[in-house]
Amino acid sequence: MALLFFLFLATTLSMGSPHKEPIPGHKIHLLSPRTGSGGDYVPGLSCLSWRFGVETNNIVGWITVPGQCKDYVGHYMLGDQYRKDSSIVANEALRYAQSLTLGRDGKDVWVFDIDETTLSNLPYYAGHGFGVEPYNPELFNKWVMEGKAPALPESLELYKKLMGLGTRVVFLTGRPEEQRNVTANNLRQAGYHTWEKLVLKAASYSGKKAMVYKSREREKLEKSGYRIIGNMGDQWSDLLGTNVGNRTFKLPDPMYYIS
Ligand SMILES: *[C@@H]1O[C@H](CO)[C@@H](O)[C@H](O)[C@H]1NC(C)=O
Ligand SMILES: *[C@@H]1O[C@H](CO)[C@@H](O)[C@H](O)[C@H]1NC(C)=O
Ligand SMILES: [Mg+2]
Repeated sequence: MALLFFLFLATTLSMGSPHKEPIPGHKIHLLSPRTGSGGDYVPGLSCLSWRFGVETNNIVGWITVPGQCKDYVGHYMLGDQYRKDSSIVANEALRYAQSLTLGRDGKDVWVFDIDETTLSNLPYYAGHGFGVEPYNPELFNKWVMEGKAPALPESLELYKKLMGLGTRVVFLTGRPEEQRNVTANNLRQAGYHTWEKLVLKAASYSGKKAMVYKSREREKLEKSGYRIIGNMGDQWSDLLGTNVGNRTFKLPDPMYYIS
């Protein structure tokens, strides 16, 4: 009985207030008990200040979430704040898009990153320490190959509204070319039914930083006549570099850093 109550309480707390639909799949994860292992412990660190530093790109090149911030990041990601923060970004993006007078040639595109932007890997990260554990490519790719990542609801809503405005969408992802099919199927299943282009990382970019790869691909888009009116991602490397687009929109992601 006590255990049941605890489970109920833990679930309720981790879900935050119930007015928003949870990202499917993550309500089944309870925060795992503190193990003392994982990311480095940083004495005196405020996890909120750390997250602010990360989101503003003042803290760069970090490998894992500081050990003592696992519960903080977990509660942030599973609770309401992550969704509210995503919502503000998506709403601003929509207001901006609505303010534009688009060309009638179908060349106005919105660039979306995929992971932690259009699709959410929260069900995976909830089971792997919310970024406290070092990135595990085997396990992560196994999760990707299941093709079950849910949409980040705020981005899906923005996507639909952008489509309604006549904007074309380009997905530009660091996922490798070998994951094209599973990614396309996952996008469709999550509600992203159509796109102008789905750009995955070709083998020729191997060893290149995400910022270099994404800049080069955006340059190719513009050279072929597209106008990048907006660009949205969860990593600064989605939004910095060249050919970034008329406006960029940074979604929250305190779980990992990609340069
Ligand atoms: C891609 O996915 C579709 C739909 O699930 C499937 O029918 C097709 O065989 C797949 N193609 C490849 C090359 O894996
Ligand atoms: C985007 O930026 C370019 C270059 O500054 C400008 O010419 C163009 O009008 C802008 N497009 C929109 C839709 O604001
Ligand atoms: Mg991403």
